[in-house]
Amino acid sequence: MMVVLKGIKKSFAPREGEKESPPALTGVSLEVGEGELVVLVGPSGCGKSTTLRMVAGLDEPDSGDVFVGGRSMRGVAPQDRDVAMVFQGYALYPHMTVRENLEFPLKMRGIRKGERGAMAEDAARMLRIEGLLGRLPKELSGGERQRVAMGRALVRKPRVFLFDEPLSNLDAALRADLRLEIGSLVRRLGATALYVTHDHVEAMTLADRIAVMQAGKLLQFAPPREVYEHPATSFVATFLGSPRMNLLAARVEGGEVLAGPFRLPRPRFSVPDRLQVGVRPEDLTLQETGAAGVLEAVEPLGAESHLVVRVADVVLRLRVPGFASWRRGDAVNVALDLGKLHWFGESGTNLDLSERR
Ligand SMILES: Nc1ncnc2c1ncn2[C@@H]1O[C@H](COP(=O)(O)OP(=O)(O)O)[C@@H](O)[C@H]1O
Ligand SMILES: [Mg+2]
Repeated sequence: MMVVLKGIKKSFAPREGEKESPPALTGVSLEVGEGELVVLVGPSGCGKSTTLRMVAGLDEPDSGDVFVGGRSMRGVAPQDRDVAMVFQGYALYPHMTVRENLEFPLKMRGIRKGERGAMAEDAARMLRIEGLLGRLPKELSGGERQRVAMGRALVRKPRVFLFDEPLSNLDAALRADLRLEIGSLVRRLGATALYVTHDHVEAMTLADRIAVMQAGKLLQFAPPREVYEHPATSFVATFLGSPRMNLLAARVEGGEVLAGPFRLPRPRFSVPDRLQVGVRPEDLTLQETGAAGVLEAVEPLGAESHLVVRVADVVLRLRVPGFASWRRGDAVNVALDLGKLHWFGESGTNLDLSERR
């Protein structure tokens, strides 16, 4: 394992006039394999940056240990850790050219001039910014600037890359392009990377494995498909995927489960009397038969449309291919795919998974 976090706990002292806040990290353990790209994802404030800063050495854990390349990082200064960090709004030196910006971290490490030049050109080639070496940061677009920032991390060929929301200041199209580039670059270099984002699309598309965090806790650590198809909790289930998974309040009645407007066969594993049934928008369809409701909204996106259907007091979100022929106010019937249901206890744990363990 290239990066290992073992039971990391961290609390911050409240600032003056502030109340005691819950711990930022409540005992996070995580292992990143050599050459693996792990994405830490979760809502703002869940502890992603704090986790990354522990690996970078910018912050020390209250308890627990960080290992890089098998070596304990206790007491090891950031510059001696063989890790490089790229964060959002990464500042370049405004009075230095791209070349000088790229060479600066090497100069700080006492690498000689000739060698520095070759290393900077190497990094520039990989990021396709060779043509920009003579420019100043103010003469670059946002995307180019972010590439140079990555180049600065890349140039000294660290064993581990740490990315903290590197794309969140960019517009959507550029974000999608750079997302692809970061993924292929990290893989081409065979580098180990920890990538932090609050964006579920970045997590799904970039990760070898996704680590989903909430309130200082790691909820699930698994490949994207497993997290999507077998979410460990209802929080994970609703965090990944858009529109969000529908969660229906449900109760057992005899041999059946009443979930919102649906009457479902009881699953083969044991379920408590009160539970939640989750169904993704793509696993609901409009049919001739099914729960009768009214179409409240249609959002055409081109390749797909998102529908909002009200059935009694339950609001359901559906995803259908292409443009929908229905209109707002239409009477419709909603059917669900029985094979694609997710079962959660009232506290949110996945009942199917906890049974299998
Ligand atoms: N230097 C700090 N001082 C006090 N509280 C902090 C500090 N850094 C982070 N926190 C708190 O720790 C929690 C986790 O923060 P952070 O790791 O930055 O979250 P994320 O990156 O997931 O948005 C938040 O509640 C935040 O307010
Ligand atoms: Mg953060």
